[in-house]
Amino acid sequence: MNVTRTQFLLALAGAGSLAAQERPKMHMFERQDFAVDDFQAAGFILDIGGGGEGIIGLMKSSQVVAIDLYKRELEDAPPGPLKIVMDATDLKFLDATFDTVTAFFSLMYMNPEVQRKTFAEAFRVMKPGGRWLIWDAVMPTVMEKDTKGPAFRFRFHLPDGKEIQTGYGAFWPEKPLDAGHYKALAQQAGFRIGAVKEQPGGFQTFSMELRKPA
Ligand SMILES: C[S@@+](CC[C@H](N)C(=O)[O-])C[C@H]1O[C@@H](n2cnc3c(N)ncnc32)[C@H](O)[C@@H]1O
Repeated sequence: MNVTRTQFLLALAGAGSLAAQERPKMHMFERQDFAVDDFQAAGFILDIGGGGEGIIGLMKSSQVVAIDLYKRELEDAPPGPLKIVMDATDLKFLDATFDTVTAFFSLMYMNPEVQRKTFAEAFRVMKPGGRWLIWDAVMPTVMEKDTKGPAFRFRFHLPDGKEIQTGYGAFWPEKPLDAGHYKALAQQAGFRIGAVKEQPGGFQTFSMELRKPA
């Protein structure tokens, strides 16, 4: 079953278009506060998986080129960015286009093979010396029998004082997807690993800065 983020959220609310027997039962974590720090970026920012709440678009508006696999997710995101339906594993941009790439809780929606291709593509479209900023949740392996995966609920605090409540959920992975997993993917793709910030809590989150060597 391929469930978009929107279908997933509707299903959580019990009001989705999914039939009751298709609604995934998720392992619900307590809502967590998460402060999203501002960051400096010149020129266009490629935001991978930039639909949904479109947090990076809210922060950086028309600097952002938001790509997402699903048109519906981009339609849901606030206006400001240039929105394009595109697969992160097959980016349509020229090599060395962007100084900055972001992925805000997008990698958890991809399986490890899709992630591997996404890392290679992000590397290709970044300028030498460019950086990729990643925010994500650590995906544990199955924690509760008969559930499809974890549902991480957030209260995001943006630099301008805005608060956004939302939830992201995906299917249990076969092996844990933690900061170590992403560091290994980054190194394979050729990135240098910069600052990694891990935030403990009922569920763990992290932010990571990767750099393409100049
Ligand atoms: C949790 S949402 C991201 C949240 C979003 N960044 C925000 O600010 O609210 C994950 C997104 O990644 C997208 N996605 C998953 N696989 C993708 C792929 N291969 N290429 C592009 N987008 C993808 C999903 O469609 C979904 O909209």
